[in-house]
Amino acid sequence: MYIKTSLNNDGILTITLSRPEALNALNSALLKELSSVMADAFSNKNVRGIILTGDGDKAFVAGADIKELTALDPQQIFELSVKGQQLFKSIEDSPKPVIAVINGFTLGGGCELAMACHMRIATEISKFGQPEVNLGLIPGYGGTQRLTQLVGRAKALELILTGDMIAAQEAKTLGLINHVVATKEEAMILATKILDKIATKGPIAVANVIKSVNAGFNFEQQGYETEAKLFAECSKTHDFKEGTTAFIEKRKAQFKGE
Ligand code: HXC
Repeated sequence: MYIKTSLNNDGILTITLSRPEALNALNSALLKELSSVMADAFSNKNVRGIILTGDGDKAFVAGADIKELTALDPQQIFELSVKGQQLFKSIEDSPKPVIAVINGFTLGGGCELAMACHMRIATEISKFGQPEVNLGLIPGYGGTQRLTQLVGRAKALELILTGDMIAAQEAKTLGLINHVVATKEEAMILATKILDKIATKGPIAVANVIKSVNAGFNFEQQGYETEAKLFAECSKTHDFKEGTTAFIEKRKAQFKGE
């Protein structure tokens, strides 16, 4: 079990991703659990809002599980990407508001998961980035599309091509996150306050706001398809093998473009 949930009396469901020993990296078992918890939350009338957070004091999510990725063949990698994209899209299309409460590293698939939520509230120590290039990869859970939507094409390209991490304050200035606060406790309080306010509105209107805002981005389907295809292409390269091996061996990768 990698997920803990708790529903309060006001209908706010807190979902905590819990693999702190791997900085809550997303392996297939965790994603499968998340998929089922999310589907239950969408259909449960007692749930009015959702907080998604990571366990521990170091990370929201440090990305897809790199060790697991190295064990998959390119077809499995492609399927992983498409399946993850579908799960993240279902979160983005949730009829109930979903807020990511972020405390620490939010990288790769973790940043992509946070971006699929409707709002993001982070603590000052949090760091954001799409470091897949350091592994000879590209984002594969929608990051090329959602980061571009949130921060614009030039900054998204800079972040994805350099793999640089940015601090919470800069992420807020760029529009990647909504609020920065000092502690995780404060982030939870603010997320709860926002969700409590939304819970006083008509649920149908709330669901229709989300649907209408998202409808404006449906043209990006081709972008998601291209991303999954090229993510899997990258996994066939020597550079991917070198990048992931270097991560596991805790050294810098030497890429050759082959
Ligand atoms: C598997 C991970 C992990 C990951 C961290 N760990 N991130 N395991 N997958 N993404 C593990 C480490 O191996 C280590 O385990 C433990 O968590 C603590 O991490 P450290 O590296 O020792 O901590 P630290 O030195 O503080 O560095 C923190 C960090 C670094 C900067 C966040 O862990 C890091 O760079 N992680 C990888 C980030 C990344 O590249 N994410 C993108 C993944 S690809 P041990 O056993 O050594 O103690 C991706 C693609 C998405 O997300 C699309 C898929 C379709």
